[in-house]
Amino acid sequence: MRQKIIEMLRNTGESFLSGESIAERLGISRAAVWKHVQKLRNDGYDITSRERCGYKFTNAPDLLLANDVKDGLDTQIIGREVYYFPSTDSTNREAKILAYKKVPDGTVAVAEEQTGGKGRLNRDFYSPRGKGIWFSLVLRPKLVPSDAPKCTLLAAVAIAHAMDRFGLRAQIKWPNDLMFDGRKLVGILTELSAEMSRITYIVLGIGINVNITREEFPTELRNTATSLMEMAGEKISRIKFLRAVLEEFDKLYVDITNEPKGGFMRMLDEWRRYNITLGKPVRVITASTGEYFNGIARDIDADGALLVETDGGLERVFAGDVSIREAK
Ligand code: BTN
Repeated sequence: MRQKIIEMLRNTGESFLSGESIAERLGISRAAVWKHVQKLRNDGYDITSRERCGYKFTNAPDLLLANDVKDGLDTQIIGREVYYFPSTDSTNREAKILAYKKVPDGTVAVAEEQTGGKGRLNRDFYSPRGKGIWFSLVLRPKLVPSDAPKCTLLAAVAIAHAMDRFGLRAQIKWPNDLMFDGRKLVGILTELSAEMSRITYIVLGIGINVNITREEFPTELRNTATSLMEMAGEKISRIKFLRAVLEEFDKLYVDITNEPKGGFMRMLDEWRRYNITLGKPVRVITASTGEYFNGIARDIDADGALLVETDGGLERVFAGDVSIREAK
């Protein structure tokens, strides 16, 4: 309901929208409209009201408030509970605390900014206020621990599908970086808590650079990072994009929940459709030892491992960093 009121007010722009017409369109009383408006104001929405004219936005904040994310979200599992943090060190850390408190499968922890965002291999992850989508999912799939890496691939596919909705063609670099023009748009960090035979929970952290200009990136990231805005040539609504990712993730997640084997196969086919790694000469730096080798990326197998053809034979890579080498 709140989301509908927000959209109506956004669409009327500078003019006023009467309480009566909002009430009529939503099938609620004018008093109920007034109550919703009060709640929106408490959340930081700057709404002007004028007698006999109605309401209009003085200023619609671009925030990822829990109720706005959840309202009307078309999902079965993902986003049933959403926790909002104006600022935190890392949503992965918040999500682990939530997981410990037994929040349900699909819970979302989202932050406006992270002061200590974590990347893979202990790197930092740049997460400035209001410029991106920094969030983590708590997942409790009934799967074995070796299936966890495939949930990471699934996240990359979900984001690619969300980008399609915005007319943007995603490029996935194995295992799960989304790239544009050779620079990184999205990073994914998966953390696992498991017993030998079953997953207790997965915290899947996703960082999406949304409205960051090239100049705004710290100098050391300027040549390696980019944003959806740079790709689209215009600002992207963070809340609309987040909701699209959650809905696309949900579809894939419901599929693997109902039918793990078939669901993962279908997801891997989608991953192949967007990948930019297969068929290319690559350098693989292994996660465990930091050693590297060269080869040609041939495929990913049913476990999500990258199959690299080397002079010594076929290598299966489960974790590591891949750089695509330019053809000479
Ligand atoms: C990588 O590319 O190295 C992974 C980056 C993952 C960043 C996200 S942002 C939300 C979540 N919280 C974190 O601290 N990290 C992940």
